[in-house]
Amino acid sequence: MKKLNSQELRNAYLEFYKQRGHAVIPAASLIGDGTTGVMFNVAGMQPLMPYLLGKEHPMGQRLCNVQGCVRTVDIDSVGDATHFTFFEMMGNWSLGDYFKKEKTAWTFELLTEVFGFEKDKICSTVFEGNDSAPRDEETASYLRALGIKEENIFYLDKSNNWWELEGTVGTPCGPDNEWFYPRHETPCCDKCDVSCDCGRYVEIGNDVYMQYKKLENGYEELEHKNVDTGFGLDRLLLFLNGLDDGYKTDLFAGAIAHLATASGKEYGQNEQDTKAMRIVADHTRTAVMLIGDVNGIVPSNTGAGYILRRLLRRAIRYCKSLDIPATEMCEVAKVFIEKVYNEAYLLLVEKEEYILDEITKEIKKFEVTLAGGMKEFDKIVGGMQRKNEFMSQKDPNYVPETEISGKQAFRLYDTFGYPLELTIELASERGLTVDENGFNEAFKAHQELSKAQAQAAKGGLTENSVETTRLHSATHLLNYALKKVLNDETVNQKGSNITAERLRFDFNFSRPLTSEEIKAVEDVVNDEIKKNTPVICEEMTVDEARQAGAVGVFGDRYGEKVKVYTIGASKEICGGPHASATGELGHFRIAKEQSSSAGVRRIKAVLE
Ligand code: ALA
Repeated sequence: MKKLNSQELRNAYLEFYKQRGHAVIPAASLIGDGTTGVMFNVAGMQPLMPYLLGKEHPMGQRLCNVQGCVRTVDIDSVGDATHFTFFEMMGNWSLGDYFKKEKTAWTFELLTEVFGFEKDKICSTVFEGNDSAPRDEETASYLRALGIKEENIFYLDKSNNWWELEGTVGTPCGPDNEWFYPRHETPCCDKCDVSCDCGRYVEIGNDVYMQYKKLENGYEELEHKNVDTGFGLDRLLLFLNGLDDGYKTDLFAGAIAHLATASGKEYGQNEQDTKAMRIVADHTRTAVMLIGDVNGIVPSNTGAGYILRRLLRRAIRYCKSLDIPATEMCEVAKVFIEKVYNEAYLLLVEKEEYILDEITKEIKKFEVTLAGGMKEFDKIVGGMQRKNEFMSQKDPNYVPETEISGKQAFRLYDTFGYPLELTIELASERGLTVDENGFNEAFKAHQELSKAQAQAAKGGLTENSVETTRLHSATHLLNYALKKVLNDETVNQKGSNITAERLRFDFNFSRPLTSEEIKAVEDVVNDEIKKNTPVICEEMTVDEARQAGAVGVFGDRYGEKVKVYTIGASKEICGGPHASATGELGHFRIAKEQSSSAGVRRIKAVLE
């Protein structure tokens, strides 16, 4: 294997594809742009969606880059050797250019000749086929021709070998060819292959053949056949350096060394401490990336900000279990900013003070929450003591209670952020114990409930998002149509509210609209719908947006990038999401026009 550090690996990957005609495109923000409803950028292909669907890319048909991604679905798996909430995806794309033959050959060449993977150990999985798409014999035949052993080629089902952004509609997707390598030589059983979950085989990357568009029900073949490749930098580093632990690579070694010194504990020595160090390091890194992003966010109680808060608070709790002050996270953050990502992510250095300040603020806020938990803890103990005194007086044979119940411990965890270990420790200081089994039961019951709730919410969201997305695009058209029909540039949006059923739009105008005007507004919108005008999203500075004649909230931060959505003659600053073309909107009808408040009218409209 070729020993490379992270920067050398980034360079080697990009160089390989540059030599094969690919342009290196800049990485996009980590924060989802709202067009897919996905909160963070979860894959290198996400910012390229319009191009994978057929739009011409200004830098050509062969592209590559290294894109930061944040995936928090696996947050509970972080703590083992190979899971991370932030990772870098090295990617390359063919936009309607080369396809399976070239791609399999290049991935194989990169792995074996540039990186030194052993041909006979490489395993590769392809799509076994279903009602929507055929079995991928073509890819399998190229793999065989390259010399991959027959027993190392696997046909797997959609849950394994099909790639799409779940919960989205109108996005590109397709069967994928995944590449695996064993971490060690010892099978756990007779059937220890790529589909075994013992952890011996790790997926190092995949080539997605994006030849379909995801519809509400089913898939539609795309005119252009694309390739979307993603290889995880963090995982590849592990193999290249002969490591079996992703936290030992140069990306994490500094952070882990700092945590080991600060805590006086040795990494790898004890399972609990090792897990805690990994969690603190991983979550701090992701927080640095999210706060330090071009569209950086801060901890809050909603949306992406809430995920960031959860990550930071989880890390703070694990600092406690390591017996170090949470402010050590700032030192860990400095290692990432100054020593690890200083070359690849220049903005982090620029924003260093701000990042550290936000982390410190969240640590302080959480301390207040934890102090609230202390009061709750004292209450529990006080109640138990009173009960014991009372009962002992009544019954001389009464055995005093000395155990905090599982439910009480879980409440401390869930409402006040107290890890079980902290409760156990506080209890033992008072000569008490904690019902750990009871805690685990309460925890499990809660997890099942959240899972059920999340599933219910997901169903609703997917359905809503299509409807509300369309109504959102209709709102832009309505905004434009009102100005045009009323022939008044001072007519402006005063409020907007969209549900799955209807849009509501408030605007300043001094009198009711006539029925002719209402009809004319509907006609302007419906004419645009009939033209099936594409919805175009561009990023520009506030000044450029103003010059382009966009309407919307400009804000006052000079130089800040905003998104401008153009739909025919309508141009608005907006975060999305939107339909991809007006044809998806159906028929627009104004259901009601009424007064909202003095000088403000309200329209309710539907798409039928
Ligand atoms: N889009 C593919 C992935 O994220 C390459 O794995």
